[in-house]
Amino acid sequence: MFEMTTVTKHKTVHGKDIFKLTKSISSKPCFEDHKHNVILFNENCLKILSELPENSVDMIFADPPYFLSNGGFTCHAGRQVSVNKGKWDISKGIHENYQFTSDWLKACQRVLTPNGTIWVSGTSHIIYTVGYAMQVLGYKMLNNIAWFKVNPPPNLSCRYFTHSTETILWAAKNKHSKHYFDYPLMKKLNNNKQMLSMWSIKAPGREEKIYDKHPTQKPLKLLERIVLASTKPGDIVLDPFSGSSTTGLAACKEDRQYIGIELEKSYLNVSMKRFKDLFMEKKKKA
Ligand SMILES: C[S@@+](CC[C@H](N)C(=O)[O-])C[C@H]1O[C@@H](n2cnc3c(N)ncnc32)[C@H](O)[C@@H]1O
Repeated sequence: MFEMTTVTKHKTVHGKDIFKLTKSISSKPCFEDHKHNVILFNENCLKILSELPENSVDMIFADPPYFLSNGGFTCHAGRQVSVNKGKWDISKGIHENYQFTSDWLKACQRVLTPNGTIWVSGTSHIIYTVGYAMQVLGYKMLNNIAWFKVNPPPNLSCRYFTHSTETILWAAKNKHSKHYFDYPLMKKLNNNKQMLSMWSIKAPGREEKIYDKHPTQKPLKLLERIVLASTKPGDIVLDPFSGSSTTGLAACKEDRQYIGIELEKSYLNVSMKRFKDLFMEKKKKA
């Protein structure tokens, strides 16, 4: 069941406050926790982004529809299963897909702070469209991360190499941005060697999918690295395609503030359960 939760006690963190920022948004949030600085909206991201003040968000992680749900098949747990993720993932054709991509990237660029950055993940079905739209909009490309999934499902047709990577583009708002990168921490996390743009991280296992699973859930470890590399504690992180809120969990775990936007109620229910578990964990550690 979809339920609304509000926890009222809160404090501004480092002069930044997601609740002040979202106060004038016309849609009510479906979940807010003022102790942990988390707010979720059950809405179209274009609507919420258009109502947020410009230059207000430090970092965006976006995992948009891949538009790969085209009736094909993949392999799951040794069985042939449909690749269809949901209605939200059906392609509308190359031109409409581009228009949608350009619209949300433009809306994200407006709300990013001058030195803010955006990360966008995707497979070959959408990532070239994203890269092209980013260049047209004047984003400054910073890195092209190859996420190697380590344990990918086999390719059943045996007519292609096994798909085992996703691309994550990292870009700053524009050419004037002086982006933040926690180089020393990334080096420390990589046995004191410069961290490469090739990241070997397993797809999420059962332990990360204890509630109804999201078909394209990202591993928490991936999002933790992204949050730690590009934000400081108290910073504002936004995910326009929040899904099961993996970005939010990573942000909250590392004491950043989080604004999540998601169209599907069922995924927001999964998010809320995941947040509640994390809040309990944080309470135990405090
Ligand atoms: C690739 S999934 C994101 C998964 C997420 N990264 C996770 O770890 O759970 C994309 C999500 O975007 C949502 N979505 C699609 N179009 C949207 C829109 N216009 N506004 C908000 N959410 C949207 C879908 O319902 C889906 O959950």
